[in-house]
Amino acid sequence: MPRISFEQCLPLRARILRPNHPATAAQFPQDPSAVHFGVFDGDVLVSTVTAHPEDRAEYGEAGQWRIRGMATDTVVQSKGFGGLVLKELLDWGRAERIPLFWCNARERAIPFYLRHGFTVESEMFDIAGIGPHKVMKIVL
Ligand SMILES: CC(C)(COP(=O)(O)OP(=O)(O)OC[C@H]1O[C@@H](n2cnc3c(N)ncnc32)[C@H](O)[C@@H]1OP(=O)(O)O)[C@@H](O)C(=O)NCCC(=O)NCCS
Repeated sequence: MPRISFEQCLPLRARILRPNHPATAAQFPQDPSAVHFGVFDGDVLVSTVTAHPEDRAEYGEAGQWRIRGMATDTVVQSKGFGGLVLKELLDWGRAERIPLFWCNARERAIPFYLRHGFTVESEMFDIAGIGPHKVMKIVL
């Protein structure tokens, strides 16, 4: 469950989160300075998550990080890989003394984040072309 490169993570992120779009549609401007984690099944990357610094003013303390691009390959979802990669990121965050992670969670992924200790922080809102989301956060 290592840190992986942007080049390793992008194809899986794009295929799962922005299907029917070019891979560039799944890139974030912050990718070059972000951290990317991956879980492998043998040699195959099956789950990935990215995070980068981004403060939400309402949470006060500076130094927050935002979680992006959480994706598990469709054929191996619900086998625990996403939980492993998220735990890897959170463990890294604790070691780095990051105070808080937040994300815009897709509706379908809200139970996943709840199970990992995140709380819901907003009403549902729509992100054009993607669908309903809620802001979620975890204080480390
Ligand atoms: C959301 C997502 C990243 C979760 O990844 P995953 O690898 O399926 O996650 P896990 O297997 O660890 O957990 C998913 C569910 O499987 C179940 N599960 C976990 N391990 C399991 C196992 N060994 N056997 C059976 N079920 C298991 C859990 O109950 C969990 O339920 P939950 O959704 O209520 O938390 C994945 O479904 C995904 O990529 N979805 C599409 C893209 C997306 O929506 N990404 C999030 C954007 S915010």
